[in-house]
Amino acid sequence: MSKIDVQNTDATLKRYNRIAPLYDALEAPVELVYSAWRKRAWRRIQGPKTLEVGVGTGKNFPYHTSDLDVTGIDLSDRMITRARRKAASLNIDPSLHQMDAQRMDFTDNSFDCAVATFVFCSVPDPILGLQEMARVVKPGGRIVLLEHVRSRIPLLGRIMDWLDPLVVRLMGPHINRNTVDNVRKAGLDIEQVQELDPFGVFKLIVANVDGTGKTKKQENTRG
Ligand SMILES: C[S@@+](CC[C@H](N)C(=O)[O-])C[C@H]1O[C@@H](n2cnc3c(N)ncnc32)[C@H](O)[C@@H]1O
Repeated sequence: MSKIDVQNTDATLKRYNRIAPLYDALEAPVELVYSAWRKRAWRRIQGPKTLEVGVGTGKNFPYHTSDLDVTGIDLSDRMITRARRKAASLNIDPSLHQMDAQRMDFTDNSFDCAVATFVFCSVPDPILGLQEMARVVKPGGRIVLLEHVRSRIPLLGRIMDWLDPLVVRLMGPHINRNTVDNVRKAGLDIEQVQELDPFGVFKLIVANVDGTGKTKKQENTRG
């Protein structure tokens, strides 16, 4: 397993701590579209024991159903503080922890399912983070990701490459990652990739932790 890039991880933590107070306001315009995609992602969860990686301010909390026992982690303590407030306001009680997705404190096979929304654009070593998710989810368990990735349209992809360093500096996430490839590189079986927009940027990725024998390859279905 590769080593954690401590400097980059510390920079990511500081960036998200800085953004945390503004995060909900900055995201409000896009949330009009994201909320439907969040709902779609959470419909794919097969709990009950569910891990949310990169829980942020708790934007997915409204989609928790009563049959789920949810644990959320985030690198940023300021994001976790906001997530705790949101949980209290919604009268739900997920277990929330400050933790690095690249090195989780959970034992192997602790969860039935795991989910992350708009997170693997920011985790410094996404393959390491995805391998950790695979480690803590039971064999046969599902991993559900909602992510923006580098566009498959060549010109747009090149523009994303060009803008990436600026966006990372200002906001935190990389806009040119190939998360579907990273999921494969982490050893997960891809069950389905749904393209959510006409530019091939937003994707719902459903993967299985190895050992299921149930994987159905339905890649690149439009949704
Ligand atoms: C763009 S925000 C998304 C937050 C939330 N999932 C949402 O959908 O609004 C990315 C989140 O990932 C978290 N994050 C980045 N690197 C992480 C890591 N290594 N471990 C855990 N969380 C991380 C950030 O702190 C931030 O809260």
